[in-house]
Amino acid sequence: MKVTITVNGTPYTRDVEPRTLLAYFLREHCGLTGTHVGCDTSSCGCCVAVLDGQTAVKTCTMFAVQADGHEILTVEGLAAGGALHPIQQAFSDQHGLHCGYCTPGMMLTTVALLKHTPAPTEAQIREGLAGNLCRCTGYNNIVKAVQQAADVLRQPAAATK
Ligand code: FES
Ligand code: FES
Repeated sequence: MKVTITVNGTPYTRDVEPRTLLAYFLREHCGLTGTHVGCDTSSCGCCVAVLDGQTAVKTCTMFAVQADGHEILTVEGLAAGGALHPIQQAFSDQHGLHCGYCTPGMMLTTVALLKHTPAPTEAQIREGLAGNLCRCTGYNNIVKAVQQAADVLRQPAAATK
Protein backbone atom coordinates (compact mmCIF):
# COMPACT_ATOMS: atom_id res chain seq x y z
CA MET A 1 0.00 0.00 0.00
CA LYS A 2 1.24 3.49 -0.76
CA VAL A 3 1.30 5.82 2.22
CA THR A 4 2.45 9.38 2.72
CA ILE A 5 3.43 10.28 6.25
CA THR A 6 4.95 13.62 7.14
CA VAL A 7 7.80 13.02 9.56
CA ASN A 8 9.44 16.02 11.20
CA GLY A 9 8.01 18.24 8.47
CA THR A 10 9.17 16.10 5.54
CA PRO A 11 6.64 14.01 3.60
CA TYR A 12 7.70 10.40 3.04
CA THR A 13 5.77 8.47 0.39
CA ARG A 14 6.55 4.77 0.49
CA ASP A 15 5.07 1.43 -0.53
CA VAL A 16 4.58 -0.66 2.60
CA GLU A 17 3.01 -3.94 3.52
CA PRO A 18 -0.25 -3.44 5.41
CA ARG A 19 1.34 -5.15 8.43
CA THR A 20 4.28 -2.70 8.57
CA LEU A 21 4.44 -1.14 11.99
CA LEU A 22 4.99 2.60 12.24
CA ALA A 23 8.19 1.99 14.22
CA TYR A 24 9.70 0.08 11.31
CA PHE A 25 8.37 2.58 8.78
CA LEU A 26 10.33 5.26 10.63
CA ARG A 27 13.47 3.19 11.12
CA GLU A 28 13.67 1.22 7.87
CA HIS A 29 11.72 3.23 5.31
CA CYS A 30 12.73 6.71 6.52
CA GLY A 31 16.13 5.85 8.03
CA LEU A 32 15.19 7.58 11.29
CA THR A 33 16.64 5.21 13.85
CA GLY A 34 16.17 7.50 16.82
CA THR A 35 12.84 5.77 17.38
CA HIS A 36 13.90 2.73 19.36
CA VAL A 37 12.23 -0.63 19.72
CA GLY A 38 12.61 -2.21 23.12
CA CYS A 39 9.80 -4.70 23.47
CA ASP A 40 7.62 -4.63 20.35
CA THR A 41 4.66 -5.34 22.61
CA SER A 42 3.51 -1.90 23.78
CA SER A 43 5.18 -2.24 27.17
CA CYS A 44 8.33 -0.13 27.33
CA GLY A 45 7.65 3.18 25.56
CA CYS A 46 11.01 3.33 23.75
CA CYS A 47 9.17 3.72 20.46
CA VAL A 48 6.94 6.68 21.34
CA ALA A 49 6.47 9.40 18.74
CA VAL A 50 3.99 12.28 18.64
CA LEU A 51 1.03 12.08 16.25
CA ASP A 52 -0.31 15.33 14.79
CA GLY A 53 1.46 17.40 17.43
CA GLN A 54 -0.88 16.20 20.14
CA THR A 55 -0.77 12.55 20.98
CA ALA A 56 2.00 10.26 22.17
CA VAL A 57 1.73 6.96 20.32
CA LYS A 58 3.62 3.73 20.74
CA THR A 59 4.77 3.21 17.19
CA CYS A 60 5.27 -0.51 17.74
CA THR A 61 1.53 -0.75 18.25
CA MET A 62 0.38 1.32 15.28
CA PHE A 63 0.47 0.36 11.63
CA ALA A 64 2.09 2.72 9.17
CA VAL A 65 -1.14 2.72 7.17
CA GLN A 66 -2.93 4.16 10.21
CA ALA A 67 -0.59 7.16 10.06
CA ASP A 68 -1.19 7.73 6.34
CA GLY A 69 -1.89 11.43 5.83
CA HIS A 70 -0.81 12.33 9.34
CA GLU A 71 2.17 14.10 10.88
CA ILE A 72 4.70 12.39 13.11
CA LEU A 73 7.34 13.98 15.31
CA THR A 74 10.35 11.88 16.24
CA VAL A 75 13.44 12.68 18.28
CA GLU A 76 15.25 13.73 15.10
CA GLY A 77 12.75 16.57 14.77
CA LEU A 78 13.24 18.07 18.24
CA ALA A 79 16.44 20.07 17.81
CA ALA A 80 16.06 23.11 15.58
CA GLY A 81 18.85 25.12 14.01
CA GLY A 82 21.54 23.12 15.75
CA ALA A 83 20.24 23.98 19.22
CA LEU A 84 18.90 21.39 21.58
CA HIS A 85 15.17 21.52 22.24
CA PRO A 86 14.44 22.62 25.82
CA ILE A 87 13.36 19.07 26.63
CA GLN A 88 16.66 17.68 25.34
CA GLN A 89 18.58 20.35 27.25
CA ALA A 90 16.68 19.52 30.41
CA PHE A 91 17.43 15.80 30.15
CA SER A 92 21.10 16.71 29.74
CA ASP A 93 21.13 19.25 32.57
CA GLN A 94 19.30 16.97 35.02
CA HIS A 95 21.16 13.78 34.08
CA GLY A 96 17.87 12.25 32.97
CA LEU A 97 19.57 9.54 30.92
CA HIS A 98 22.26 6.97 31.24
CA CYS A 99 22.37 4.52 28.33
CA GLY A 100 19.85 6.62 26.42
CA TYR A 101 17.83 3.75 25.05
CA CYS A 102 14.56 4.93 26.59
CA THR A 103 15.32 8.61 26.10
CA PRO A 104 13.71 9.36 22.73
CA GLY A 105 10.46 7.83 23.95
CA MET A 106 10.71 9.70 27.25
CA MET A 107 11.21 13.00 25.46
CA LEU A 108 8.43 12.50 22.92
CA THR A 109 6.04 11.48 25.69
CA THR A 110 7.10 14.67 27.44
CA VAL A 111 6.27 16.73 24.35
CA ALA A 112 2.70 15.46 24.40
CA LEU A 113 2.42 15.68 28.19
CA LEU A 114 3.48 19.33 28.27
CA LYS A 115 1.24 20.13 25.32
CA HIS A 116 -1.79 19.13 27.36
CA THR A 117 -0.44 19.92 30.84
CA PRO A 118 2.03 22.82 30.62
CA ALA A 119 2.56 23.03 34.39
CA PRO A 120 2.38 19.45 35.62
CA THR A 121 2.74 18.41 39.22
CA GLU A 122 5.27 15.73 40.08
CA ALA A 123 2.41 13.24 40.34
CA GLN A 124 1.14 14.22 36.89
CA ILE A 125 4.62 13.80 35.43
CA ARG A 126 5.01 10.36 36.97
CA GLU A 127 1.55 9.35 35.74
CA GLY A 128 2.26 10.80 32.29
CA LEU A 129 5.45 8.76 32.00
CA ALA A 130 3.93 5.59 33.43
CA GLY A 131 4.06 3.93 30.02
CA ASN A 132 7.78 4.57 29.61
CA LEU A 133 10.24 2.25 31.29
CA CYS A 134 13.85 3.07 32.11
CA ARG A 135 16.21 0.45 33.44
CA CYS A 136 18.99 2.89 34.28
CA THR A 137 18.02 6.11 35.98
CA GLY A 138 15.54 5.36 38.72
CA TYR A 139 13.21 8.01 37.27
CA ASN A 140 13.89 10.86 39.72
CA ASN A 141 16.18 12.72 37.35
CA ILE A 142 13.77 12.16 34.49
CA VAL A 143 11.03 13.80 36.55
CA LYS A 144 13.36 16.71 37.32
CA ALA A 145 14.11 17.05 33.61
CA VAL A 146 10.43 17.25 32.74
CA GLN A 147 9.94 19.86 35.47
CA GLN A 148 12.81 21.94 34.07
CA ALA A 149 11.49 21.62 30.52
CA ALA A 150 8.00 22.66 31.64
CA ASP A 151 9.44 25.73 33.38
CA VAL A 152 11.46 26.73 30.31
CA LEU A 153 8.68 26.11 27.82
CA ARG A 154 6.26 28.27 29.80
CA GLN A 155 8.54 31.27 29.32
CA PRO A 156 7.22 33.59 26.58
CA ALA A 157 10.45 33.29 24.55
CA ALA A 158 9.93 29.55 24.24
CA ALA A 159 6.38 29.84 22.91
CA THR A 160 7.42 28.95 19.36
CA LYS A 161 9.28 25.77 20.34
S1 FES B 1 8.92 -0.97 21.60
FE1 FES B 1 6.98 -0.01 21.61
S2 FES B 1 6.38 -0.01 23.67
FE2 FES B 1 8.29 -1.11 23.68
S1 FES C 1 18.61 5.66 30.25
FE1 FES C 1 19.00 3.53 29.95
S2 FES C 1 16.98 2.67 29.80
FE2 FES C 1 16.65 4.73 30.34
